[in-house]
Amino acid sequence: MANIFKKFVNKQNQKLPAYALKVREDIDNLPDISAKLEFLLHNRQFRVDQKKPEFLALLKKIKNKKAINILEIGGRRGGSSILFSYAAGEQASILTVDLNNNGHRLKTLQKFSHDRKIQFWQGDSHLQETYNRIEQHLQGSKFDVLFIDGDHTYEGAKQDFIKYSGLLKDDGIIALHDIQEDYKTRFNVQTASWTGGVPSFWREVKATGFNTEDLISDPFQDGYGIGVVYWDSSVCNDLIKKLEKINH
Ligand SMILES: C[S@@+](CC[C@H](N)C(=O)[O-])C[C@H]1O[C@@H](n2cnc3c(N)ncnc32)[C@H](O)[C@@H]1O
Repeated sequence: MANIFKKFVNKQNQKLPAYALKVREDIDNLPDISAKLEFLLHNRQFRVDQKKPEFLALLKKIKNKKAINILEIGGRRGGSSILFSYAAGEQASILTVDLNNNGHRLKTLQKFSHDRKIQFWQGDSHLQETYNRIEQHLQGSKFDVLFIDGDHTYEGAKQDFIKYSGLLKDDGIIALHDIQEDYKTRFNVQTASWTGGVPSFWREVKATGFNTEDLISDPFQDGYGIGVVYWDSSVCNDLIKKLEKINH
């Protein structure tokens, strides 16, 4: 029985690259970024795990910024990365790092993004070797946008924020996903949502004095929410030092 299941899964995996091309064709045929996002919120294989108004607001900021370099930490199925690419335009370059980008998944994601400047890497954002590789990839330039949606522990999110903000342009933006507490933390009601230590880290970011904006579609939603930091290196470098000193 186990072998039959394995054979079935392998066969399905082999079909994925062709399916990825079909999905891309469908996305290309949709008229605007809102429609492309709507489609990807419901596609099983490349699903975007976001709330539509929040992610759309972020995509608009990316478009207005005319972002050239974007780093996404935690891309999972690839839907968010492709949307960053559509929002920023064909000249933009997206780098997505995820712990689980391996084997069939990587092959499928490469097909999915074949004609766009998107690189999917497997890597742990917390490792120095990953950071060094990303820095090399930049060849002396910096990121316009950093989207942090990887490790959701307090320490993990804080580490990504502090470490990778050093690779951000003077007027770049950082977007942190899952700033809204899940129902378990807020109301002691267990659901499938888990936002980990991100909400408490976000409260720290705001209390430290960064210039921020909360993108939250509904104050009673269970998790999600995007925290945006408008970077200004003339003040933010000192704020990062303050943030580093806070003991949780
Ligand atoms: C919530 S999902 C990302 C969802 C995606 N950004 C979206 O909008 O659909 C989180 C992802 O982060 C990845 N991840 C967790 N810890 C990580 C780390 N330390 N480095 C890189 N990726 C990590 C997981 O493998 C997972 O795919």
